[in-house]
Amino acid sequence: MTDDLLARHRAVLPSWMPLYYAEPIELVSGSGRRVTDARGRSYLDFFGGVLTNMIGYDIPEIREAVERQLRTGIVHSSTLYLIRQQVELAEKIARLSGIPDARVFFTNSGTEANEAALLAATNHRRSHQILAVRNSYHGRSYATMGVTGNRGWSASALNPLQVAWLHSGERLRGLLARLDPADRVAAAVEDLREVLATQTTGDVACLIAEPIQGVGGFVHGPDGLLAAWKEVLDSHGILLVCDEVQTGWGRTGEHFWGYEAHGVTPDLITFAKGIGNGYALAGVVGRADVMESVPAISFSTFGGNPVSTAAGNAVLDYLLDHDLQANAARTGAILADGLRAAVASLDHVAEVRGKGLMLGVEFVRPGTTEPDPTLTARVFEACRAGGLLVGKGGLYGNVLRMGPPLTLTEDEAREGLAILVDAIHTATGTATATTATARVTA
Ligand SMILES: Cc1ncc(COP(=O)(O)O)c(C=O)c1O
Repeated sequence: MTDDLLARHRAVLPSWMPLYYAEPIELVSGSGRRVTDARGRSYLDFFGGVLTNMIGYDIPEIREAVERQLRTGIVHSSTLYLIRQQVELAEKIARLSGIPDARVFFTNSGTEANEAALLAATNHRRSHQILAVRNSYHGRSYATMGVTGNRGWSASALNPLQVAWLHSGERLRGLLARLDPADRVAAAVEDLREVLATQTTGDVACLIAEPIQGVGGFVHGPDGLLAAWKEVLDSHGILLVCDEVQTGWGRTGEHFWGYEAHGVTPDLITFAKGIGNGYALAGVVGRADVMESVPAISFSTFGGNPVSTAAGNAVLDYLLDHDLQANAARTGAILADGLRAAVASLDHVAEVRGKGLMLGVEFVRPGTTEPDPTLTARVFEACRAGGLLVGKGGLYGNVLRMGPPLTLTEDEAREGLAILVDAIHTATGTATATTATARVTA
């Protein structure tokens, strides 16, 4: 039983590994965009195990690709031997990356992918100075915690890197808040110039940035910000690393990679989460000269193993064959438009933001920008009670996050939207008439 499992979980696993919900749930089966818990309750899943079940649950094409690999008897060989699935996946990712003559290194997690990118960048530039962005999240190792701008996710101050921090260019909070987009870009560029002049010796290795901050609550600067930053970076020879762990593979709807909204090509791109659809698969793709700067053997026992890369190939083929990027744009618009209409008169909601199937709702105390994590938690629990799994995030825990599988259907988008709108009205104690209207218009 789940209750027993919860007690056993608490007895043997560390408490700094959080569980969702006042009554945590165990997911025991899944199909498409739906999961069922140990008590037999089923949910529409708008979080996908943190944007990782990108294609959905129990997808035959992916299952069969993994089973084919298992039937060969080779689950693991190590990268000391040629791995056909790995080479094929690397070829596809290199081609899709937008980086000419790219090289790909596979890892097991986003953390390791960012470590590998930082390893290449610091060696290429012979510098351990890094620019990072406030409110970012890049992983749980020392270096990636070191470039994570979120106290709640930084469990140690030990850092092998020297890091200087940029404003994110977000609209709602911080020194650049509420400027119009062009002024925010200009102010963020000024900030970069000043940080370079005052906090570094100039020979910085790279800037690492998420095109949309995931853990940070789907916060992002104006389109074009990365290009404006890159102009300054280029004048110093500083590399741009885009962490596409959450934004990659068409999730933003308008583009295949988050960076493309900015009219810029990064030197290195890191990826993880969705590419394995649950199998442990991540990596970095980047400029050959930068990737080849690593001066010693750097070997990952499990990185890019035959099973995870078989899954990765099947995921990528499925994604492209079904044009899931276009589906993300279509279904994401249903969600975003429906949500915006439903909360337009609610001053508990500061912002509905994001792109494609990466949408956040930020809750505040009415009439202010003061975060309201308590209300957020109420909406979160009400969604679950209504049969919808969503995520939470943001620096202050006051952002509801949606990152459903990219296979979401239009009907499922409307179904989830109705639950979400109901949950918001239940938690805020606001009119059910609006809810009914939202249902109809959804
Ligand atoms: C943007 C981003 N980068 C890196 C990571 C770390 O990935 P992992 O948990 O696979 O190590 C995450 C995880 O949430 C992430 O969202």
